Amino acid sequence: MQTREIRLERYPDGLPTSDHFNLVSVDLPEPQDGEVLVRNRFMSVDPYMRGRMREGNPYFSPFALGVALDGGCVGEVIASNHPDFEVGDAVTGFYGWREHFVTSGSEVTHVDPDLAPLSTYLGTLGMPGMTAYVGLLDIGRPEPGQTVFVSAASGAVGSIVGQIARIKGCRVVGSAGSDEKVAWLCDEAGFDAAFNYKSAGDLAAELDRHCPDGIDVYFDNVGGAHLEAAIDRMNFHGRIALCGMIAQYNATKTSSGPANLMLAVGMRLTLQGFIVSDYEHRREAFRADMAAWIGAGQIKWRETVIQGLENAPVAFTGLFRGDNIGKMVVEL
Ligand SMILES: NC(=O)c1ccc[n+]([C@@H]2O[C@H](COP(=O)([O-])OP(=O)(O)OC[C@H]3O[C@@H](n4cnc5c(N)ncnc54)[C@H](OP(=O)(O)O)[C@@H]3O)[C@@H](O)[C@H]2O)c1
Repeated sequence: MQTREIRLERYPDGLPTSDHFNLVSVDLPEPQDGEVLVRNRFMSVDPYMRGRMREGNPYFSPFALGVALDGGCVGEVIASNHPDFEVGDAVTGFYGWREHFVTSGSEVTHVDPDLAPLSTYLGTLGMPGMTAYVGLLDIGRPEPGQTVFVSAASGAVGSIVGQIARIKGCRVVGSAGSDEKVAWLCDEAGFDAAFNYKSAGDLAAELDRHCPDGIDVYFDNVGGAHLEAAIDRMNFHGRIALCGMIAQYNATKTSSGPANLMLAVGMRLTLQGFIVSDYEHRREAFRADMAAWIGAGQIKWRETVIQGLENAPVAFTGLFRGDNIGKMVVEL
């Protein structure tokens, strides 16, 4: 049996293009004892993958060149030589960027297709949802009545951050890159306020307008000008959860840090970076809370679904153009 996979051909400088990727057909091995054969239904594209497309990153191993990329995926077992898996089981694993894979049963995990559609396990019920949960609750530590500001607010992580903060009784403000995103945040996702940072131009003025009592928790997905503008408006003892800095991921020159970092001293701010994989001990709490919130209709989410493995590179680079509302996934 043949299958298709996407390989990284060379490391990009700046935003990757289709030239950096290669779609190839390969032979698929038969599953041996203890192995399963999975047909991927959805694969994830995530901003962190850009960090693995370069060498010398101290905390990520780079993608190997000339072999299939990897990443989150969810699919269906179509052959099994493992006692815990039957044909038809829905599973998640880390063999994205390919249509099928054979692996040991220990490298895939069952998911419940009755709780939510399969793709949700790459978003709200998956890594981005858990990132929002631990980043907000463990690092942001919001208290009822406080103001939480989140950037990339309509994305997979940001949209869940804002809704959890609302559940916790906070006033929630988000920034996003289009009027359609802003409308979704305010009309559907329950944000108290949101603004289009691209058309508004003046971040400082927007934050002054929407956060009249200052900011207690800033959940930073973007870095750069957003981080600097938020620092200027943080309240005493405010917390900044440094989740990501997507504005810098394709930069070809090193950017200077926030010019106003001295405010962190005087305002007694806590700025803390985190990586979700360090929070496995919080997985059960995340699963239980998120399932309950979804069941109660308190969490809404959107997905941008791109069709076909061949379009995965376009889906991936679309993250940096703001092509997605909610989680960007590729349906295979
Ligand atoms: N620390 C961790 O463990 C962890 C785990 C997962 C994700 N993350 C980080 O969390 C952030 C969000 O990830 P996600 O998966 O939820 O992606 P996402 O928000 O669903 O998609 C990326 C979004 O970022 C925004 N964006 C792109 N370029 C931008 C720029 N130059 N300036 C401002 N906004 C820009 C775009 O929305 P707009 O239209 O609003 O610009 C785009 O839709 C990323 O920084 C990611 O690296 C961290």
